[in-house]
Amino acid sequence: MATSKEVKKVTTHTLQNMKTSGEKISMITAYDYSFAKVFDSAGIDVILVGDSASNVMAGHETTLPITLDQMIYHAQSVIRGINRCLVVVDLPFGSYQSNSDIALASAIRIMKETGCHAIKLEGGEEVVDSVKKIVSAGIPVMGHLGLTPQSIYKFGTYTVRAKDETEANKLRIDAKFLEMAGCFAVVLEKIPASLAKDVTGELKIPSIGIGAGGDCDGQVLVMHDMLGINTEFKPRFLRQYLNLNEQITGAVQQYIRDVKSKDFPNKNEQY
Ligand code: KIV
Repeated sequence: MATSKEVKKVTTHTLQNMKTSGEKISMITAYDYSFAKVFDSAGIDVILVGDSASNVMAGHETTLPITLDQMIYHAQSVIRGINRCLVVVDLPFGSYQSNSDIALASAIRIMKETGCHAIKLEGGEEVVDSVKKIVSAGIPVMGHLGLTPQSIYKFGTYTVRAKDETEANKLRIDAKFLEMAGCFAVVLEKIPASLAKDVTGELKIPSIGIGAGGDCDGQVLVMHDMLGINTEFKPRFLRQYLNLNEQITGAVQQYIRDVKSKDFPNKNEQY
């Protein structure tokens, strides 16, 4: 008999069924216990422990510096906060590009040490061997195409990818490669909406878009961007649902005033 605490967990199969039924997939990043708990309780389908932690948690300019150990720390914290959603963890730069054995070893470490449900890695044809090896070890893999931030120094800028025919065709082929290698879903980042629509139609697995238009099977946003914690980053694709930066600044300023004026703590706030 199911108790009130038992919930239907989101699995990779749930996402596949959502694509089939036309229900959109919601995904958000999280890097710690408290926010993961809030997002899971709110009903999010997927939490991505993104290597964007390198930017929004550690303050680095790119995603390159974050280490496997640091990703594992963030993922362990997130897992302790969730009950229902699927948790996907990014393989960080340097933990899979060398060869497929190293990729598998990194994926196994993440799965074993965090208790997460899947991993994500960036790239197309060049990562197919790694995807196959990881999937054959029983680990679900999410792909990531388009703007792949771990290759920022190859691209040179964070502008929209695959605008020209050659790159668009490569992306279509890469998406098919990832599907055939066994990926259960693929993130499409910052590519033209018409291309994302075509790729989504050509794939059996779900696409999750970020800056890739409304025809993807799901959407993902970085929590700090959509909650307005990070106010400098305002790309066109971003919808900011809160201005937490302003609200937190106001609250902290009020706290400072209350401490300085000796209003806090009052008689009811002491023992
Ligand atoms: O690291 C990350 O947050 C990501 C998303 C932008 C998809 O990869």
